[in-house]
Amino acid sequence: MSSAGQSVEAGRPRVLVARIIPQAGLVPVTEATDADVWADELPPPRDELLRRVAGVDGLLSLLTDRVDDELFDAAGPQLRVVSNFAVGFDNIDVPACTRRGIPVGNTPGVLTETTADLAFALLMAAARRLPEGYDYVRAGHWRTWGPMLLLGQDIHGATLGIVGFGRIGREMARRAGGFGMRVLYHDVNAASPDDERRLNATRVEMDELLSQSDFVSLHTNLTPETRHLLDGAAFARMKPTAILVNTSRGPVVDHDALFEALRDGVIAGAALDVTDPEPLPADSPLLTLPSCLVVPHIASASVVTRGKMASMAAENLLAGLRGERLPNCVNPEVYERR
Ligand code: DGY
Repeated sequence: MSSAGQSVEAGRPRVLVARIIPQAGLVPVTEATDADVWADELPPPRDELLRRVAGVDGLLSLLTDRVDDELFDAAGPQLRVVSNFAVGFDNIDVPACTRRGIPVGNTPGVLTETTADLAFALLMAAARRLPEGYDYVRAGHWRTWGPMLLLGQDIHGATLGIVGFGRIGREMARRAGGFGMRVLYHDVNAASPDDERRLNATRVEMDELLSQSDFVSLHTNLTPETRHLLDGAAFARMKPTAILVNTSRGPVVDHDALFEALRDGVIAGAALDVTDPEPLPADSPLLTLPSCLVVPHIASASVVTRGKMASMAAENLLAGLRGERLPNCVNPEVYERR
């Protein structure tokens, strides 16, 4: 029995799990609770989410579910934990959760390397024009070895600019080290001198990063300050040969400005795991450009990592239901008010 007098085993609290997640998380949740699991491939439509959340004690949400005052009003005052199946939590109105005393869990750490792997894969694919090569072969255009065919950018020896030098940004730097790249980074917080040495990374202002980098890779949170951080003015500062990689959040990039920059040759390419909006409509002008590679927000999508995220999300949810501190809580200030 927890301090809050709630035992998951005894009370079978009601929870909503907003999508099927890997077994490593689904099994503990369904064993310990009375769980309503939304089984569709697509997220619950808003009215369905609001209907199903009524009366639940816990919510296991995904980054596709908006969690805000409207949802809390629909849920009722018994809702005592939100566990987000992601490290990012820009889908959640955290101040609203804190005001209502609801802790919010996320899944940091376990997806760091997998996300950096994908960011580096995107960098390499765009640099060496792999999607264009693949399309070329499949379309039957490959007639001979061509000295001018699909020339791309070198990765080794190039300069990588990393925007946001948190866990994932640093893993990106570590990968770049293996390719002999020069690493610049921009972050409001400086890394320790030890980390800078270990990662061979130099902190610079944003303007310098943009003008010096052959590749710019985004690893920042989405906040009011970072929304459209990469806009027309930023692209104008970049090299015409530069390639943008985004595995952070779509709205960090102004997509209209990105389209114009790619179309007009202001920069050479972009590789996006995240877009604005998501999903990117199939008729988006960006998809008409061979220099723009887009994948559907899969940076953390390895079997092992999604299993770890599921198990972490379950631990957060079940801890919150027991009235215990969440192992990974984005608003720990909620506990100070108790
Ligand atoms: C996250 O966790 O925030 C990613 O965007 C999805 O894994």
